[in-house]
Amino acid sequence: MSKNILITGVSQGLGLSVARAVLAAGWNIYGVSRRLSPEFAELQRGLPGRVHFHAFDLGRVDAVKEELFGKFLSFDVPLHGFVNNAALAYDDLVSNLDAARLRAMYDVNVFAPMMITKHVIRHMLLKQVAGSLVHISSISAHTGYKGLAMYASTKGALEAFSKNTAREWGERGIRSNCVVAGFMETAMSATLTAEQREKIFRRNALKAATRPESVAATVVYLLGDGAASVTGQNLFVDAGTI
Ligand SMILES: NC(=O)c1ccc[n+]([C@@H]2O[C@H](COP(=O)([O-])OP(=O)(O)OC[C@H]3O[C@@H](n4cnc5c(N)ncnc54)[C@H](OP(=O)(O)O)[C@@H]3O)[C@@H](O)[C@H]2O)c1
Repeated sequence: MSKNILITGVSQGLGLSVARAVLAAGWNIYGVSRRLSPEFAELQRGLPGRVHFHAFDLGRVDAVKEELFGKFLSFDVPLHGFVNNAALAYDDLVSNLDAARLRAMYDVNVFAPMMITKHVIRHMLLKQVAGSLVHISSISAHTGYKGLAMYASTKGALEAFSKNTAREWGERGIRSNCVVAGFMETAMSATLTAEQREKIFRRNALKAATRPESVAATVVYLLGDGAASVTGQNLFVDAGTI
């Protein structure tokens, strides 16, 4: 059966890899990010009926309902999955914490995804779909990295939200899981020095960066019927961080 999947942060990085993997699975994409990147536009040109896009800034938490569930997704289209991928990383030492930057990050990483989850669940209930919610978390929430305390805390919040959502909606067949990604070579991590990268690699079993394609394949697994009995879990795709 074909599925309709809402994915945030599709313009680049992991979100683009997830979009490609979802298309390869034969499903349709409803993609969201602030800008339509040339790479995502190319996916759209290749498969116009299957790839949809809406430019939206997740920092506009109060506009989630109107923009995404009014203008973009209609109730005629059943939603089978939501991939909460978009995020920003505000990294600094805790002793430098700036409240405005922290709030802005929580809007994008936590509050908007929670509001989207609310409306996705309502959508699934209305259309009687046993859907799958997948949140992208980070290994930093588990191991700790200097400078990532604020960012990692947003991922910890998502993991708790996901587990409790799984408990709350499991009896209606709605599943919720997190994929805990390790360090990936994307724009988000581009500011790290070679020395910092080496330090991260020394902490994992494969001594290498996590491949976005590997994370994307796990997301597709969780969205699919093969994961019908998997919920409330954190799946680590992190090159074996130890
Ligand atoms: N890179 C890593 O090492 C790493 C490790 C563990 C977990 N993760 C997680 O993996 C996920 C993907 O990260 P990535 O590495 O692919 O990062 P990335 O290359 O920076 O991509 C982030 C995506 O989110 C979108 N986005 C950012 N702010 C947004 C906003 N306000 N509204 C709407 N969309 C927004 C961006 O699109 P626009 O700029 O066009 O809006 C972009 O498509 C994130 O959840 C991240 O926390 C990353």
